[in-house]
Amino acid sequence: MSAEILPIESQESFTAAVHRAAELLRAGQIVAVPTETVYGLAANAFDADAVRKIYEAKGRPPKNPLIVHVASIEMARQCVQEWTAEAARAAAHFWPGALTLVLPKSDRIPPIVTAGGATVGIRWPAHPFIRELIRVCAFPLAAPSANLSNQVSPTTAAHVFESLKDRVPLIIDAGPASVGIESTVLDLTNTPARVLRPGMITPREIEAVLGRTVALHSETSGHLRSPGQLHRHYSPRARLLLASWRTDEELLDLIQRLNRPLREIHILAHEIIPRKIPCGRVAVIPPEPQAYARALYQELHRCDQLGAGVILVETPPENEQWFAIRDRLARASAFPESAP
Ligand code: TXA
Ligand code: MG
Repeated sequence: MSAEILPIESQESFTAAVHRAAELLRAGQIVAVPTETVYGLAANAFDADAVRKIYEAKGRPPKNPLIVHVASIEMARQCVQEWTAEAARAAAHFWPGALTLVLPKSDRIPPIVTAGGATVGIRWPAHPFIRELIRVCAFPLAAPSANLSNQVSPTTAAHVFESLKDRVPLIIDAGPASVGIESTVLDLTNTPARVLRPGMITPREIEAVLGRTVALHSETSGHLRSPGQLHRHYSPRARLLLASWRTDEELLDLIQRLNRPLREIHILAHEIIPRKIPCGRVAVIPPEPQAYARALYQELHRCDQLGAGVILVETPPENEQWFAIRDRLARASAFPESAP
């Protein structure tokens, strides 16, 4: 089997793709679909057998729960025990969008979706394709990122194809994802509310809407400078290193100390752009967090395609706007030896 790819660049192809995808999902199959964050690998969230195929296709550990995608508040209510006033406030402000809310799950969500846990992550995504697909299906879609477990999330249909071509019957091609990194995961079941995975929607923005403290809990918080201790997630094949330099000479010095063939070294710069550095490639990413997030995974995928051995990434700024980007870079730079 090699995946079929359907484009959606016209009204006719959009409608045809929605119907083909819905047909497969109703039959208990999986389909790779665009969202505004990253591409997702979707199945009917109410159908345990269908959801099992997601775990199989990705090689995902059964302990890692899936996000359930909805396209209305009514559908969100079906997935949770109680739709609290706080959930309603967060949803009114951030949905459709890149925020996942963790709440106690309802009985309609089979245990496999939540990895046996009592809570479920739900999100109303903004991308028009998945919204229309969920509306037509009339059931919510469980969907993790559409990549093999622990690889960099896909932001184009070509990335999905590269990773899952023999494991999924259909990939919908909507072009590059507009956000570019995964959603913010917010746990509303505890006090204070906690961000479990940072994203482009920041704790401060959420605090402003909820009117209560939002804590940041992530594997990487506080440990951004010691990536060797991190679990290796979201990783390219190449070794990723964060580095700072002020001049070409300093950068050259860093590169020479790596002791690798120069063509295997790729550089991702956003502020101090190398001028005359002998290396495999220099990619320039815009020095603005939204634009950087949109470009980052694309650049990491390209480094892998071009056979990079080391990716030297210019360390991004410290402020909150950049936190999710720093989190993903820290995870991607964790050494393979530290994999769980
Ligand atoms: O932007 C996104 O969130 C993308 C698109 C496809 O929606 N999805 C995504 O899914 O990144 P995935 O499976 O690659 O990451 C889901 C994250 C995992 O870190 C998982 O542990 C966490 O969300 N998660 C899901 N349900 C949870 C729950 N009930 N409690 C705590 N964490 C949960
Ligand atoms: Mg993922």
